[in-house]
Amino acid sequence: MTTQPSDLTNHNANSQPAKATSNMWGGRFTEATNAFVAEFTASVQFDKRMYAQDIQGSIAHATMLASVGVLTDSERDAIISGLTGILKDIEQGNFQWQIALEDVHMNIESALTARIGQTGKKLHTGRSRNDQVATDIRLYVRDSIDHILKLLNRLQHGILALAEAHTDTIMPGFTHLQSAQPVTFGHHVLAWFEMLYRDTERLIDCRRRTNCLPLGAAALAGTTYPINRQLTAQLLGFESVAENSLDAVSDRDFAIEFCAAASLIMMHLSRMSEELILWTSSQFRFVHIPDRFCTGSSIMPQKKNPDVPELVRGKSGRVFGDLISLLTLMKAQPLAYNKDNQEDKEPLFDAIDTVQGCLVAFADMIPALIPETDTLRTAAFKGFSTATDLADYLVKKGLPFRDAHEVVGKAVALGVQKNLDLSELTLPDLQQFSRLIEPDVYSILTLEGSVNARNHFGGTAPLQVSAAIGRARSRLSLATGE
Ligand code: ARG
Repeated sequence: MTTQPSDLTNHNANSQPAKATSNMWGGRFTEATNAFVAEFTASVQFDKRMYAQDIQGSIAHATMLASVGVLTDSERDAIISGLTGILKDIEQGNFQWQIALEDVHMNIESALTARIGQTGKKLHTGRSRNDQVATDIRLYVRDSIDHILKLLNRLQHGILALAEAHTDTIMPGFTHLQSAQPVTFGHHVLAWFEMLYRDTERLIDCRRRTNCLPLGAAALAGTTYPINRQLTAQLLGFESVAENSLDAVSDRDFAIEFCAAASLIMMHLSRMSEELILWTSSQFRFVHIPDRFCTGSSIMPQKKNPDVPELVRGKSGRVFGDLISLLTLMKAQPLAYNKDNQEDKEPLFDAIDTVQGCLVAFADMIPALIPETDTLRTAAFKGFSTATDLADYLVKKGLPFRDAHEVVGKAVALGVQKNLDLSELTLPDLQQFSRLIEPDVYSILTLEGSVNARNHFGGTAPLQVSAAIGRARSRLSLATGE
């Protein structure tokens, strides 16, 4: 998880009070906040990462306030130039974050007043931290979605390049992790593409619901100023304005949806990881992962471990945890804003960081994979992988499928007994099970014959794989506009 207050555990509830109550809300207070409580309730340790979004939101808010006459143009300009200066300071590491100022919002607002004087105190007119934080998180999630979509795009193009190089590389296809039928390597990795394509669509869909403006809801009931929420939305690039002020400040569905989409991405990456871990083992040797993505063992000199896929497989669990944290956080919360909501950030940020890191690792590694084509071919040949082809051959000659299944079963049993593949049995051997078997049977029993025969939309035949790659490229650019 993200940082905890550094010395939180050194305090107890009876320790000295913090120096003063916050000058942002301390008017009604008669004693200073307990030092432990001040740190316990603060969020700046982890929400300061939303500084750019917070400033972006404040600039839009001030611009809107000036447009409706609540601020003068010169007040607006002072606020904007102050905020722009603060943004620069933060980015250059010249900003002192203070736990006593609780969160990113009050740290920046207080710095603004310190910088530009009394006018800084007018920025918060007609808004509350409740609608402010909801706005910041939405902007942050929107930016994160855009970044993740780019990473997904890069990974998907990597998969397509790998598929393109191996449209006719033959490998075993599995069911129950037992050799089932030969498939092409390109076809196998295009299945990964489809998983990630759905993830892309899901994120685009989630972005639309995230991209809705809560600002203007103020604390919960709206504000008495003549605000123009449409203008604020337009300035911030929001596609819509939240319809209901109570919902606007309390809704975190978009964060949950994002974590659900992130969980599916991680689940997909964990499936790819599992295959890569199996495939790189010395028992399989299906693919080679270049050394730069692997590490060794400090005790076993022969080891080269597939750390990247293993770590990604492991990290999927924490993103599922983040999703469950957010669902549990929101469960049974009464309207409208509750301080519970401050707990939304760490799981959300953790999910964002984790999925981004894993996608970077995969986007770099996938196009660098080297399939071991000879091993794949030999493995595809094992396990009577063309048995279904023989059954289909008999059906095409008039035998009902169930009878064909029986005939092939017997032929397989003979192969097992003789330790030979179906294609290695003699014609008389095969014909004893069915008179329909003729010399042409051998062409359908080859690996090429088997994959080429599955020549329909969505099938594994090299021709189909090439066509699918072409469609994948245009679907991807249509979906993402890239
Ligand atoms: N730090 C708070 C959060 O993350 C900001 C909103 C605080 N609002 C309040 N009424 N205390 O949720």
